[in-house]
Amino acid sequence: MSRRRMVYEGKAKILYEGPEPHLLVQYFKDDATAFNAEKKAVLDGKGVLNNRISEYMMTRLGEIGIPHHFVKRLNMREQLIKKVEIIPLEVIVRNVAAGTMAKRLGLEEGERLPRAVVEFCYKKDELGDPLVAEEHISAFGWATPPEVDDMVSLALRTNDFMCGLFAGVGIRLVDFKLEFGRLFENETVRTILADEISPDSCRLWDMDTNKKLDKDRFRRDLGGVTEAYSEVARRLGILRDSGDGADVVDFKGGSK
Ligand code: CDP
Repeated sequence: MSRRRMVYEGKAKILYEGPEPHLLVQYFKDDATAFNAEKKAVLDGKGVLNNRISEYMMTRLGEIGIPHHFVKRLNMREQLIKKVEIIPLEVIVRNVAAGTMAKRLGLEEGERLPRAVVEFCYKKDELGDPLVAEEHISAFGWATPPEVDDMVSLALRTNDFMCGLFAGVGIRLVDFKLEFGRLFENETVRTILADEISPDSCRLWDMDTNKKLDKDRFRRDLGGVTEAYSEVARRLGILRDSGDGADVVDFKGGSK
């Protein structure tokens, strides 16, 4: 594995020092956690798939002018990213009722929302990432009002683009979570997309069958988690089918 100095270890990823001070290396682990890490497992190949899917999503979003931290993929499990100061909020965009929103508001899971809804949760594991209002965000100084405006507008543009991208491959984008960071560049600060966009952070349902192709397979013990992530990658054209049913990705591929 890497000889680089570790900067941070999260539940599914590790950050290492990059080759230059303004860069980091983001390493995708196979570890899966849910319910605030009460449920844990190692899912062979998940990190390799999320590295590729997140690279794909960030690259496509960059092409339509959404600023992000992704620089380039280094190997099967690692990508070079720009160093940012992470804003301590999870920005959730929802198109269809599911998960905690369905529970909180007594909605039927699968019910289409009247319009896309953006929610903020305060990133604090000890508290289970509570839902917060813009009032809390500015009162406690987690982000400035202009940063909140940037996050809402970038999250909605990302949602529009991703809804179309996934619909094109027969997948409904139910909801997803984004994280943003502050990029300090020549005396200016910009709000850019950070973290990852993958089936770990999205709810993705097959449009015809409603089959879940995301982390809910792990949360709800439905099985076939990495198979579902592979299916997403295959439909997006990231994975080729080798003909014998095996994907052309070396799931054991470690960092080089
Ligand atoms: O996932 P859960 O039901 O606990 O929470 P949610 O608020 O319904 O999640 C909305 C979306 O954000 C889902 O696509 C989750 O996968 C994603 N999410 C995430 O990636 N990380 C979190 N800490 C919380 C939610």
